[in-house]
Order: sequence, then structure tokens, then C-alpha cells
Amino acid sequence: MKTKTLSLMLFAGTALGALPAQAAGDLNLICSADVVICEQMKGDFEKAHSDIKVNMVRLSSGETYAKVRAEARNPKTDIWWAGTGDPHLQAASENLTLEYKSPKLDELNDWAKKQAESSGYKTVGVYAGALGWGYNTEIFKTKGYKEPVCWADLLAPELKGEIQIANPNSSGTAYTALASLVQIMGEDQAFDYLKKLNGNISQYTKSGSAPVKAAARGETALGIVFVHDAVAQTAEGFPVKSITPCEGTGYEIGSMSIIKGARNLENAKVWYDWALTADVQSRMKDAKSFQLPSNKSAVIPKEAPRFEDIKLIDYDFKSYGDPAKRKALLERWDREIGAAAN
Ligand code: G6P
Repeated sequence: MKTKTLSLMLFAGTALGALPAQAAGDLNLICSADVVICEQMKGDFEKAHSDIKVNMVRLSSGETYAKVRAEARNPKTDIWWAGTGDPHLQAASENLTLEYKSPKLDELNDWAKKQAESSGYKTVGVYAGALGWGYNTEIFKTKGYKEPVCWADLLAPELKGEIQIANPNSSGTAYTALASLVQIMGEDQAFDYLKKLNGNISQYTKSGSAPVKAAARGETALGIVFVHDAVAQTAEGFPVKSITPCEGTGYEIGSMSIIKGARNLENAKVWYDWALTADVQSRMKDAKSFQLPSNKSAVIPKEAPRFEDIKLIDYDFKSYGDPAKRKALLERWDREIGAAAN
């Protein structure tokens, strides 16, 4: 025991001795994208900034928002990278995140800059992606199901127990789906639709992309997800076809925020500027992360679903990124859908 403590001290001493004086130390990161891209980002950052150690946790967007709120008085996180923009906006309006104007802002697409401006620079867009679904073509063929191309088609009685979507409390993907349906149909009609859809849902998962991973492996026939997550499964070699719905669909502006009270603020800014560079965003495709990058000079992966090919709604980020709106919609979802699902 004593020897172990001594060698740990010696190790720490050597490591500290090797570190440059400034910007060294830790960075506590919550990553709300897929675990493969989260690991790649951590690894690349530590290579580029070898004096900063990243302690990374992967949590879904809604879970991160809840954690950041719960820890507001004693923040344990420095930076929150990725995940859907709505909870980043909600955190910004509750003053849980810090204003920061990165020198990289001018390199970004307008939709990413707008995300920053509308939050008083407390968050910024890092990528974008549209909502849809992916289905397992082999299951559909074997069972003789009709290809669902519209939201309405997901209510087909033959799809009973064949669909998965995440829970909007934990998942930003599922919150985007809920908010999109409300914008497309009106709130009461959207809840009517979700009640009917509930009959076809086998499971509400915690993370947003889990449903299409289950579809890829044949555990369910169809997963409602961001289409780039469905495309990623096709790129992995699974029999998954992606669809964006005929009535129109919503989209995310995946975002990034520095947590107010960050203990490692300088390191958080180093990550922030680095994550907005074209080189870093161009490498996301290597982790099969096929979103549209926010830096104008980043390479758009050929697999990325293009917005010009999708019927997009004019998603109202201001209203659906509002904490009161979130609370009301989720309470209604818990009462009318979640309770019935248990
Ligand atoms: C996947 C997508 C991201 C999205 C994230 C949200 O990782 O690739 O584009 O931001 O899901 O995750 P969540 O678990 O909160 O739905």
C-alpha cells in the first residue's frame, strides 16, 4: 500500500514537472453525441493539447441539461459539447452557461451564428441534422410491410410493436421529434398522433440513436432518429434504409456551451475554439458522424443527408428552446404518453 502511494506521488510529480505552466490540467467534458465521435474528439484534442487531460462522460442532451441544472451551485462540468440545441438554449436562458465569443465565430454558417446570437453567445452551433427514421429492409421484406414514407404511415396496424423512439425527457432527438410534430400538426393533434403511435412503440429508449441501432441489428423494425444516425448504420453495412417524412420534418442545431462557474475555464475555451475549426469538423465523418458541419470550410461528408433534399419545417428554436415550453410539453408527454407506456 505504502509503495503504491509513493509511486503514485512520484508519478504525479514527474507528470506535473513535465507540464507547461499555462493552460495545463483537466477539462471536464460532457459529450452528448454518439460515443464513437465523443471518443474521437477526446483523443484528437488530447493529441493536439497534450497538456490537457479530458475527463469525458457521454450523456444524452436532456440528461445533461438536468445534470447542469442540478449542479448549478457547484458545477462539475466545464464544457458541454454536442447534443441537440434546444436544451443548450434552455440552459442559456436559465443562465447556466457562460457567454463566450469565439474568434472562430466568423468561420461559421449563418445557422450556427444565429444560435449564438439568439442565446446571447451562451451557446453555438456545431452541426445540424434532420429528423426522420431508418428501417430494417430485411424485416420489412420478410414481413411484407409497406415502406412508411410519411408520419401518418407509422400508424399502420401492421407495425404494432415494431417501432422504437427515445424518451423526450432524456433524449434531445425525441424532444426534437415531439416539438416537430407539435409544429407540424398543432399540439392537440400531435398528442393524438403520439397516443396512436404509442400502440406501435415497443420501447422508449434513453439515448436518441439507440432505436436505429436496434433496427440495424434486427431487434426492431424501425427507429425514429436523426437521419444521419440511420445513414451511419447503413455505412456500417447494416440493411437500413433512411426516410425523411413527406409531411415535413424538424431538425437540430447540435450545440456547444461553456458551463457557468467552470473550474477549468481557460481549457474550456481552448476546446471551444478547437471544436469550431474546419479540420476538427472535417474529421467527424471518420467516426461515421454524418451531420452537416457548422464551419463553412469543413468538408461535408458525401453520406450527410442534405437539407436541400429534405422537406424541412421552419423549426421555431426560440419557442421550443424555452424552459417553460419544455416543461409543459414534457409534463403532458409524461401524463398522456409515458404513463400509458408503463
Ligand atoms: C446522436 C446524433 C446527434 C444528436 C444526438 C442527441 O448522437 O448523431 O446528432 O445531437 O444523438 O442525442 P440524444 O441522446 O440526446 O437524443
